[in-house]
Order: sequence, then structure tokens, then C-alpha cells
Amino acid sequence: MTANIPSGRVTELHSPQASDAAEELISRERTFGARNYDPLPVVLARGEGSFLFDVDGRRYLDLMSAYSAVSFGHAHPKIVGALIEQAQKLGVTSRAYFNNRLPLLFERLAQLTSLDRVLPANGGAEAVETAIKAARKWGYKIKGIPDGHAEIIACRNNFHGRTITITGLSTEPQYRDGFGPFPPGLLTIPYGDADALARAITANTAAFLVEPVQGEGGMIVPPPGYLARCAQICREHHVLLICDEIQTGLGRIGKFLGCEHEGVMPDGVILGKALGGGLLPVSAFIATDDVMQVFHPNDHGNTFGGNPLAAGVAMAALDVLFEEKLIDRSAELGAWLISDLQDLRGPIVTDVRGRGLFVGIEIDATRATARHVVDRLLARGILSKDTHGTVVRIAPPLNIPRDALEWAAGEIRAVIRELEREKKRAA
Ligand SMILES: Cc1ncc(COP(=O)(O)O)c(C=O)c1O
Repeated sequence: MTANIPSGRVTELHSPQASDAAEELISRERTFGARNYDPLPVVLARGEGSFLFDVDGRRYLDLMSAYSAVSFGHAHPKIVGALIEQAQKLGVTSRAYFNNRLPLLFERLAQLTSLDRVLPANGGAEAVETAIKAARKWGYKIKGIPDGHAEIIACRNNFHGRTITITGLSTEPQYRDGFGPFPPGLLTIPYGDADALARAITANTAAFLVEPVQGEGGMIVPPPGYLARCAQICREHHVLLICDEIQTGLGRIGKFLGCEHEGVMPDGVILGKALGGGLLPVSAFIATDDVMQVFHPNDHGNTFGGNPLAAGVAMAALDVLFEEKLIDRSAELGAWLISDLQDLRGPIVTDVRGRGLFVGIEIDATRATARHVVDRLLARGILSKDTHGTVVRIAPPLNIPRDALEWAAGEIRAVIRELEREKKRAA
């Protein structure tokens, strides 16, 4: 696969000026949409592999992959084919009946995670809620926590979604502001500090919920041994370890599950995003029999989870992950990118970090913002995203052509050097 990208410095930058057609669409969205997002001024109309095209036909390299939901690229022929074929046969039946797709997905996910049972859902937050419900009920019915006293521990700076309960676990003031009161029994501890977990656990602790690498929190990689030590502490205290692999799973950080980096076997794993092949919301809570035994018919459910269309697409997405050897590819390309970008450290960039194709470039907030970098990359035909104000997140499709990634690294370097020169002149 060749990316057909101009090598070296681009000569023609994308005009930051949106066309009339684009302006009109932006204006409609701003008029009729709730203002809970502030998108970059680009109106996308088509996607193919690692590239997106705007309404005026301009091409962009996607270094964001819809927050890691498009790990297999846009409109992957095999996944689109599975979607069409399945949609023509059977779409949604509900869990009131068996269907001929879901059992195959259940078996595959159980085998791939070395866990026992799968509970399907749609978006990521819904699967996290499911995990929290399972953990609480396990706490009461199996561990013997007094009714109403179960505690869930998560980490500061986490991102697990946006429901009320999950927001109650967030430490981001903006995410919480105006949405309380939150449910009791939710605690947070510093990320990367296993001793803090040991101190926080009480007889009422049901579960520790953790991301193997914090994504939305700024691409934070914990110290080596952290997750393994947390697993040991959880085991010692009869506390469930639940890994939120919604973003880190499915090869994003160079292993099928992020927790495999430390040889950790959690009691429960949450998958989402890329499980839908970049086409549908598909998520799942996958856990041991010990945990899943708490669910009986009608305890918990949803209308769309595990529908044949979603299951067919998820199976195709998993096929692509393995057929195209994307887990190794993520590890290799990610390691290359992180090492290639180390020379950016200087007056503007304070850190380049990550694991697999999940990379963060930390910008010195006193000199620039991550949004400055993202805007300039956009003008050069690259879509990226700032997170936490100071971090540029780079998470391209795992099958991004190598020459495209090399070109993007050159463009990122050019933008940082440009900002350095401007700061120097202004000083
Ligand atoms: C680690 C993690 N958990 C949960 C979620 C929530 O997923 P969704 O936006 O599909 O609800 C996200 C989304 O970014 C995530 O990164």
C-alpha cells in the first residue's frame, strides 16, 4: 500500500478558509446542535483507509481515528462488506431470541481475552456502567459487602465515559460541574501509584477500575510494573481488577489487550470503540464466571446490544485485526514514531510518550497550546486532536501506510520548529 504523499515539506497548505458549502453546514450545526462539542473547522464527507476528504474534496491524513474507533481505517472493504451482507440478512432482533451471529462473537471474545463470559452493549460508557453494576452486585452477593456499601476505586485523571455514575468517578471539574449529585461509593486515587491502591482498599471495596494507559487524560503511561502490582494487591484483598480497554484494547497499544504488557489477567475487561470496526457502536463487558454469575435473566440488559448486525461487524473487525497483523504493526510503528519524535523536545515540546500507535506530544503551556499545533497540522492536511489542553494526541488507524506516518512526522516537526522560531522572534 502506498500513501502517495508528497515527501518533504508541503508546498501548498490547505486554506484555513472554509468554502461556502462548508460554512453553510458549520452554521447549521452551530444553530441546531447542542453546543457540547467545538469541532475543528473541517467538514468531512468521505473516508478511505487512513484518509478523510472534506466537502470540497481536500484530503487529510487521519491521525485521530475517531478517538481510536477507526483502528482499521475508514470504509475497510472487509468490514463494510460484512456490514452490508449482514444488514441484508438480519439486523436487529433483540436478546429476546437467539441469533446466529452473537454466539460466535461471544466465543471469540471469551477466547481472545481468556475470560469466560461476555455481556454485549453499544457505546463504551454503557459497557463501563455494566462493569460497575456487575462489580457492585459481585461485592454484595459473592464478597459479602453489607448492602448499599460497595465501593469502586478508580484513578484520578481517568476517562471512562459520561454517564452520571462515571462522571461521579471523574476528577475533571468541567465534566462534573452542574451534573451532581453523584452516587456514593465512588473513590479516586492517584494513577500510577500502586501503594495508593493498597491504602484505599477497605473491606467494602468491590473493584478497582483502571485504564492500562490513560488516553483522554493525556496519554499517560504508568510506571513499569504498576498494573502487575495492582493485580497482586487486588488478589490479596479479594477486590476485582477491571481494565477499561475501550481505547487501549484491540491492538491500540501493541498487544491485543493493554494489560498483556504486564502479563496481567484481570477479572473483567471492557472493550468498545474499534470493536465496531469504525462503523457501529459495539462494546462489551467480558469477565470471569465468578463475576458474571451475578447476572440472572432481567437483572440487566439493553435493546441493541449484541444484535446480529453489530456481532457480524465486530467479527469482521477482529478478523481484520489478526489477518493484517495490526497488533504487531501498532507496536512497531508506534515504537518508531515515539523514538523519531524525541528530537522535538525543546522550548515548545516537553515530552513525547506513548505505547503502540497511541502517542502524546506534551506542549509547554506557557509557550503554546496543543490546539495551536492541531490547527497548524490541519492546515497541512493532518487531522489530530488536543487533549487536556496541553497534549496533542496521535492515534492513527493501525494500518496507516508507513510512508504516510513518516510524512506526518515530518509535518509535525515542521509545525513545532515554526512555533519555536515564532517564540524566539517574539522574545
Ligand atoms: C478508556 C475509555 N473508556 C470509556 C470511554 C467512553 O466510551 P464512549 O465514548 O463510547 O461512551 C472512552 C472514550 O473515549 C475511553 O477512552
